Amino acid sequence: MTTADVQLNDPQTLYRRWEDSQWSPFEIDLSTDQGQWREMDGDGRGLILFVLSSLMVAEERITTKFSGLVGAYGSEEEATFLATQQVDEARHMQFYARFRDEVIAEPNLIGSHVERSREHVSPAFEHLFDVALIHAHQRVVAEPQSQEAKVAFVTLYHLILESTLGLTTFKFTTDYLNGGGLLPGFVDGYSKIHHDETRHIGYGVWFLRESVAADADLGDVVRTTLRDLLPSVAESLSPSGNGSGGVDFDALGVSLDEVRDFALNGLRRRLELIGVPLETL
Ligand SMILES: [Fe+2]
Ligand SMILES: [Fe+2]
Repeated sequence: MTTADVQLNDPQTLYRRWEDSQWSPFEIDLSTDQGQWREMDGDGRGLILFVLSSLMVAEERITTKFSGLVGAYGSEEEATFLATQQVDEARHMQFYARFRDEVIAEPNLIGSHVERSREHVSPAFEHLFDVALIHAHQRVVAEPQSQEAKVAFVTLYHLILESTLGLTTFKFTTDYLNGGGLLPGFVDGYSKIHHDETRHIGYGVWFLRESVAADADLGDVVRTTLRDLLPSVAESLSPSGNGSGGVDFDALGVSLDEVRDFALNGLRRRLELIGVPLETL
């Protein structure tokens, strides 16, 4: 079987899965986390705050820079699925904010949490979330009928931010926390978020494959978007020195090679399914 024969889940199937996967950020048990947080030393706290900051900022961007895609739907089934993704992203943002409110014990409005978190993120991270994402989103809002604008947006949002950056951050952060028996409530919520993200990424791969199959020129939109942004992704995943990166993998005890291999292998697999092999970039 070639990758062109692989059945991907369509939006209706993904929507039905969403109906069966409901959870609440306010039902996760954070009591162990609260005790552990109080006992943690400065280094341990710094490391967790750093990861949490990049997740907080990312989910705020991801939540508020999405509605244009809902308006660019191609079918009622796709509009339905995209509406559920928007709810999921808001739920993820709420979970990270609740963790700050109740475990870090600094209750505040989400906007203030995001503002404080911003002190920790790198220029490469800001380029992806504050420049590239905003630009791609504005374009999809201005031209909801443009397949090019939609393909560029989904390539950035689903393929780069949710897959290549998001899945890599999830893997190494949860490996670290699970290895030390740390913050089980956070890991529980983050794992439920991860489960949602795999559904979102499933949509992205489905949409990009359908688009490229219908119009080969759209493959070039995927290529150009990746070529433009992969340097910022690589920088976001590289050792951060004094806390200037997206996530400090070095401090999580993971080598740069491990991080790069994991990120690149995932991207390679998805691009193969989409019909735009990595080698053609
Ligand atoms: Fe999310
Ligand atoms: Fe997502």
